[in-house]
Amino acid sequence: MLARSAVRALSANSRTFSSSAARQTKVAVLGAGGGIGQPLSLLLKTDPLVTSLSLYDIRGAPGVAADVSHVDAHSEVNGYPADKLDEALDGVQVVVIPAGVPRKPGMTRDDLFNTNASIVRDLAAAIGRVAPTAHILVISNPVNSTVPIVASTLQKAGVYNPARLFGVTTLDVVRAARFTAGIAGVKPADTPITVVGGHSGATIVPLLSQNAHGKAIAGDNYKALVHRIQFGGDEVVKAKDGAGSATLSMAYAGAKFTNSLLRGLNGEKGVITPTFVESPLYKDQGIDFFSSNVELGVNGVEKIYPLGPLSAEEEKLMEACLPELKKNIEKGKAFVESS
Ligand code: NAD
Ligand code: LMR
Repeated sequence: MLARSAVRALSANSRTFSSSAARQTKVAVLGAGGGIGQPLSLLLKTDPLVTSLSLYDIRGAPGVAADVSHVDAHSEVNGYPADKLDEALDGVQVVVIPAGVPRKPGMTRDDLFNTNASIVRDLAAAIGRVAPTAHILVISNPVNSTVPIVASTLQKAGVYNPARLFGVTTLDVVRAARFTAGIAGVKPADTPITVVGGHSGATIVPLLSQNAHGKAIAGDNYKALVHRIQFGGDEVVKAKDGAGSATLSMAYAGAKFTNSLLRGLNGEKGVITPTFVESPLYKDQGIDFFSSNVELGVNGVEKIYPLGPLSAEEEKLMEACLPELKKNIEKGKAFVESS
């Protein structure tokens, strides 16, 4: 049963961004030495909205920082080794987390839980201590569980603000636009597809019916397209043949979402994109986190949009999404409770 009326406009607090504050944006990347972290750091270096970049990893961040710092964009870049996490987080407004292990062929994202849950929990605890007002963008998988882990960890520390926590599902949106455009024979700019739910297999629900080109794709083509969007990650894992999962397209997607958030934080109006946040949409079914279109503003999450009209196929996709998503979220919360 869809709770379509459940739209939340988070109460805007009284803080407004002055133009000078808008020009000072310090962003940290935790896991900056990795397959995603390196190209993501490079792309963030070239983002004019980033004034300072703090690169942290348990391995190799100072080297990545030295390399990236030579790019002739105005931001400053600093690298921090394993024992300098607190220094890396000092004064940051935005923290992007691609730390953790990636999949190998035959694995699900949930198979990464045992390793990545504690990595993400410990990083979240440090953020809660050193940069409690930072906006946190979680890339590490399984996103459906790691976002609740961050939320519960910050809650334990008494500093959780749901307006500042985001699971990055932008790669699903990027894939949906690209794959749909390929079939329709148009440009990806003409096929912005809202992707809702979570970030793994059946929890990824593309709302193709809400785009004219997407709506025109039917029958076996529709089924194949939905499957490709839901399992695009597996396609890359298989092609990389044991060398990891999507890194370059993810770095692009991560930089794209970070830029959207920074635009919102800087006061730009109408910045709307899907992201996995604490959401009222399915709370009545015990699902506290959900990805749908979110307006980003000076406080982070400004407004959470309902799904809008769904086709019969999309209603079915939602039926498959919700129970799996619920399990993933509960697993993340239980992990922190038992920690
Ligand atoms: P990778 O192994 O290449 O890099 C991970 C990096 O994290 C490594 O440099 C490692 O040293 C670092 N790291 C490990 N523990 C750390 C800690 N405690 N603190 C700081 N850094 C730490 O992996 P990758 O390909 O960059 O993928 C990273 C994660 O992103 C994986 O969990 C992967 O599944 C996920 N991912 C998510 C999406 C998405 O759409 N959200 C897309 C692609 C990959
Ligand atoms: C993706 O969608 O590419 C990522 O979540 C990585 C993966 O494990 O598939």
